[in-house]
Amino acid sequence: MVRQQTGVIDAARAAGVTWVVKVSAWQPGPDSKLSVGAHWEIEQHLRASGLRWSSLRPTGYMQNFFTGDGGFTHSGALAGPYGMGRVAYIDAYDVAACAAALLTGPLGGGDAYALTGPEALTHEEIAAKLAIPFHDLTPKKASEDLRVQGLPGWFVDDLLRLYADMAAGSMAEVTTAVRDLTGCPPRTFDEFLANR
Ligand SMILES: NC(=O)c1ccc[n+]([C@@H]2O[C@H](COP(=O)([O-])OP(=O)(O)OC[C@H]3O[C@@H](n4cnc5c(N)ncnc54)[C@H](OP(=O)(O)O)[C@@H]3O)[C@@H](O)[C@H]2O)c1
Repeated sequence: MVRQQTGVIDAARAAGVTWVVKVSAWQPGPDSKLSVGAHWEIEQHLRASGLRWSSLRPTGYMQNFFTGDGGFTHSGALAGPYGMGRVAYIDAYDVAACAAALLTGPLGGGDAYALTGPEALTHEEIAAKLAIPFHDLTPKKASEDLRVQGLPGWFVDDLLRLYADMAAGSMAEVTTAVRDLTGCPPRTFDEFLANR
């Protein structure tokens, strides 16, 4: 991912592009794990590129509950070491709307935007909206389940750290960035479900 995206940035500069809006991740930093750490590295490359840049830093996507091999739902239930931590999931539609607003608006750049949905929900509340059971797993049980699926130990350890941060409320903040950039409030989870 780092090689691909830094390659795109270099190719953009070589082609005369002047402004890049990058989709990054929530609170990236030099010690971040997995793809969040990769996004941090790519952001550093973009900042050093000389291009005008903006970075969109979304929380988790609402779409995650329906897509992806590591889908959030297993055996018809929402199961994971989520605890009662709240997450202000965002509809990917709003991430794209922010990118479009930036790229078609007045020239700017040099800013990172923390993008969230309009409300922070527990996974128990989300499971209720999806009308499926919720199983709050202990980190130990979640780790065992992930290893049984064949995931490498280091990856499981990093993933469990992300889950622990989430359960502790690291993604519970609700920001005004989507409304500030687009002029429209971000979609609620109910609106996301209604528009699928
Ligand atoms: N999911 C989240 O909660 C979340 C939260 C914050 C940030 N993000 C970031 O948002 C981005 C998208 O996440 P996602 O969860 O939607 O990922 P995803 O489900 O894996 O989708 C990635 C998309 O990128 C396409 N793609 C991958 N490599 C490509 C390439 N070399 N050239 C052209 N297209 C390529 C894939 O196409 P194919 O389907 O054809 O393979 C797919 O449509 C990622 O950078 C991710 O780190 C995600």
